[in-house]
Amino acid sequence: MLGLLSRRPPGRRFRTGRSSVTAGVVALAIACLAAGLCGCSWSENHDAEIKAAEAGYGPLYEHYAAMAIADMAVEPGALEIGARIFAATCARCHGAGGRGTIGIPDLTDQDWLFAGTPEGIEATILSGRIAMMPALAASIGGEEGIAAMVAYVRSLGGHDADPGAVEQGRARFASVCAVCHGADAKGNKVLGAPDLTDDIWLFAGTPEFIADGLRSGRSSQMPGHAGLLGERQVHLVAAYVYSLSLLRSDRAARDAGNRPGG
Ligand code: HEC
Ligand code: HEC
Repeated sequence: MLGLLSRRPPGRRFRTGRSSVTAGVVALAIACLAAGLCGCSWSENHDAEIKAAEAGYGPLYEHYAAMAIADMAVEPGALEIGARIFAATCARCHGAGGRGTIGIPDLTDQDWLFAGTPEGIEATILSGRIAMMPALAASIGGEEGIAAMVAYVRSLGGHDADPGAVEQGRARFASVCAVCHGADAKGNKVLGAPDLTDDIWLFAGTPEFIADGLRSGRSSQMPGHAGLLGERQVHLVAAYVYSLSLLRSDRAARDAGNRPGG
């Protein structure tokens, strides 16, 4: 394992010595327990997987470590390895095709909570991300304020809502919510605060889900994988993730009768 991780090319930013590997695994285990998301002894399995991968793919990792993520994202060999890492490590949360579920983002939709550039995606996978919204019922006038805010948020997503309630919600949004979601409600990628105008939902866009989030708050965590995978496997799986959103946009362009690049 150390053999693979210590032969890193010069100029990469992340240290992957033994202590940071151990610390990363411990931090990840704590993060998972805190999130109540995993009950399996996967760190042992992963040690074995990394050893196997090292035996099978060592020289390939060398090759791909020096390659840009955007180039790997259209290279079948890199994508095959990235897809394997994704299946073994990421699919249990993000789903086999990366489409996510309630509270777990869809990685295929080009709607990014955090930076969706190749570097941003790689940083998310290496170091993890935390997003948090406090309970806000008290700040917006209790249940009545929640009803108005739900109407406003629904209207942002293009849904019909009572105009009086929408106006009441709009005024409070500017003073309570805009600080994180932006005055235009288009979100903040540093905080992981979602765009509320695109009708794409991390949780669900029903009135009940929106109200529940305002009552109880929301918080999500993507565990950092630098320690578990090492930076080279992260580099490859980042390319696979980046390719998922490219595929989707290619398809959308074709559906619109508008071939990419043409
Ligand atoms: C324990 C569950 C879990 C695992 C395992 C996991 N993720 Fe995540 N991931 C999440 C959650 C939850 C978020 C949203 C975090 C937030 O909003 O703060 C997330 C966010 C992300 C994002 C950011 C999406 C965006 O819209 O900006 C990327 C990229 C990502 N994960 C990729 C991966 C990859 C690649 C792996 C495997 C190496 C992986 N994840 C493993 C739960 C997980
Ligand atoms: C302190 C920053 C902060 C404030 C203030 C805040 N939010 Fe949020 N909001 C977030 C973050 C971060 C998330 C994502 C939480 C997660 O990933 O678990 C979120 C999630 C949401 C969601 C779920 C979006 C989805 O895609 O499912 C809604 C709806 C929402 N906020 C509405 C509001 C409204 C309305 C207000 C004002 C009453 C508000 N927020 C105030 C940070 C904030």
